[in-house]
Amino acid sequence: MNDQPLLALKQVEWRYEGGQKPALNNINLSLKPGEVVGLVGASGAGKTTLLLTMAGFIPDNYAGYFAGTRRISAEIGMVFQDPETQFIGLTVEEEIAFSLENKGYSDQAIEQRIEEVLRLVRLEGFAKRSPFELSGGEKQRVAIASALATSPQLLLLDEPTSELDPRGAREVFTLLRQLKQEHEMAIVVSSHATEELAQFCDRMLLVSAGSMIYDLPVRPFFAEVEGLARHGVLIPEMIRLYHWLREQGILQGDETSIPLSVEEMVRMYQEMGARAGVRT
Ligand SMILES: Nc1ncnc2c1ncn2[C@@H]1O[C@H](COP(=O)(O)OP(=O)(O)OP(=O)(O)O)[C@@H](O)[C@H]1O
Ligand SMILES: [Mg+2]
Repeated sequence: MNDQPLLALKQVEWRYEGGQKPALNNINLSLKPGEVVGLVGASGAGKTTLLLTMAGFIPDNYAGYFAGTRRISAEIGMVFQDPETQFIGLTVEEEIAFSLENKGYSDQAIEQRIEEVLRLVRLEGFAKRSPFELSGGEKQRVAIASALATSPQLLLLDEPTSELDPRGAREVFTLLRQLKQEHEMAIVVSSHATEELAQFCDRMLLVSAGSMIYDLPVRPFFAEVEGLARHGVLIPEMIRLYHWLREQGILQGDETSIPLSVEEMVRMYQEMGARAGVRT
């Protein structure tokens, strides 16, 4: 992994035309290859605006006032919150082909790439289906396949699971985990599903009223329970239990040992029992 950032925002400010106040204030952010980042914040905090700015749709495709600098050195793919509103193809393969045609791929390369990305999102056999006649999770995976078609090094997803049932949400996070592990893709995902983010992300961002409140590695981020609660961020159950056990003096540990999953919690508890010479 080299250290050259894929994307750097410096002192970025953005005000939508007609907006009362800036939607982004003094944003400084740098993303490295392969980094997986979660973005949280209350409704209206600026998550979508920040993702649109990372992708370059702001300021290019929006009216407003932009200040600061945005440097990119990577192909970027973006998946919008409601993929259906983005679909233009009558079939899944047309949908995916669209971004490739824009980039000047040959017909043969397009055909091959469609097959590859459909395999990647586990939608083999869906090429001739209508993207509108799929389940929510399948639609989301078609949108991800389209974003992946041009082999981006950075994938941005805006609340990819907010419209999905638990099973659809799990499908999407399973796929993202696979992209992270097998393709070393950098990913930024906005979501309210902090339980999933805690297990999936290396780094977490919290925005509030257009400002960056926290930009921290995942464990120190979830150590900020009071700050997170103040900004309406749901603390995952496992992490609440850990903080409670510490307050009660039952567990020792600091922010570096915060458990991010049930498995980690169980291991921590067993180790504690082993140290104390008791059976757990
Ligand atoms: N096209 C627009 N024109 C004017 N103001 C906008 C526009 N889009 C968003 N805003 C404003 O910018 C601010 C940030 O909105 P944004 O959509 O980025 O929030 P969000 O964190 O994505 O919220 P949500 O969780 O509801 O999706 C809000 O005050 C919003 O009203
Ligand atoms: Mg949004």
